[in-house]
Amino acid sequence: MVGSRGSVRRLPNSCRNAFPDDRGPGGIGKTTVALAVADRLITSYADGVHFVDLAPVGDHRLVPHVLAFVLGHAIHSDDPIPALISYLRTKQLLLVFDNCEHVIESAAVLVEELLRNSPKLHVVTTSREPLRAEGEHVHRLAPLAVPTESEGLMAAEALEFPAVRLFVERATARLDSFELTDADASVVGTSAAGWTGSHSRSSWPRAASTPWGFVASRPT
Ligand SMILES: Nc1ncnc2c1ncn2[C@@H]1O[C@H](COP(=O)(O)OP(=O)(O)OP(=O)(O)O)[C@@H](O)[C@H]1O
Ligand SMILES: [Mg+2]
Repeated sequence: MVGSRGSVRRLPNSCRNAFPDDRGPGGIGKTTVALAVADRLITSYADGVHFVDLAPVGDHRLVPHVLAFVLGHAIHSDDPIPALISYLRTKQLLLVFDNCEHVIESAAVLVEELLRNSPKLHVVTTSREPLRAEGEHVHRLAPLAVPTESEGLMAAEALEFPAVRLFVERATARLDSFELTDADASVVGTSAAGWTGSHSRSSWPRAASTPWGFVASRPT
C-alpha cells in the first residue's frame, strides 16, 4: 500500500470505542485501507478477522445471510439476526463490511444489533455514504497527496508524494523498464492530481476465497 498510513494507524484505535466507517468517494482507497487495517489486526482477535464484501449483494435482505456464509455458520431461519447474535455473543472477532453504500440500511441495522449484543465484537465498515448507525465514527479518507506545484519538479521530489509513487508502481507493473525521469516528473506530477481517487476498484486483486469475502484467522 502507498501512503494512507495515518488512516491505517488511527482506524484500529477507533475500533475500541466505536465502529469506524471508512468513508469517501469511489476509488479513493477505502477497500485498500480496510484490508490494510484487517491485516494489521489479524493477530489481535482470538476468533479472527472476517472480511465481508457486500458489493455483489443485490438484495438488501441478504446482508445477514452473507455474513453467516462468510462466518461459515449455517442458519435455518427466516430471521437470521437473532441466530447471528447468539453465535457472535461470546466471540472476539473483527468484522470488516466493505462496500455498504447500496445496502446501507440493512448494514446499519445489522451492525447496531450485533454490537449491542456482542461485547467483544469490533466492526469496521467502508461506504461512500455514512451508515448513520449508533456508535458509528465516520473516518473520511483523504486523497493521496500530490505535488501542489509541478513545474520544474525533479523525479526524486515527485517520488515523495504517495500519488506519484502509486503511479510509478502501476506503470512498472505494466512495463518493467519504466523509470520516472526528471524529464517526465512534472507531467506525472500534474496528471497524478487528476488521477488519484478516480481509478477503478476492478483492478484491485481480490484475496477472496468465496464470492463474498475471505476469512483471515489468527495464526496458531
Ligand atoms: N493507498 C493506496 N495504495 C495502493 N493502491 C491504492 C491506494 N489507494 C487506492 N489504491 C488503488 O486504487 C484502486 C482503488 O482503490 P479502492 O478499491 O481501495 O477504492 P475504494 O474507495 O474502495 O473504491 P470503491 O468506492 O469503488 O469501492 C485500487 O486499484 C487500489 O489498489
Ligand atoms: Mg471499495
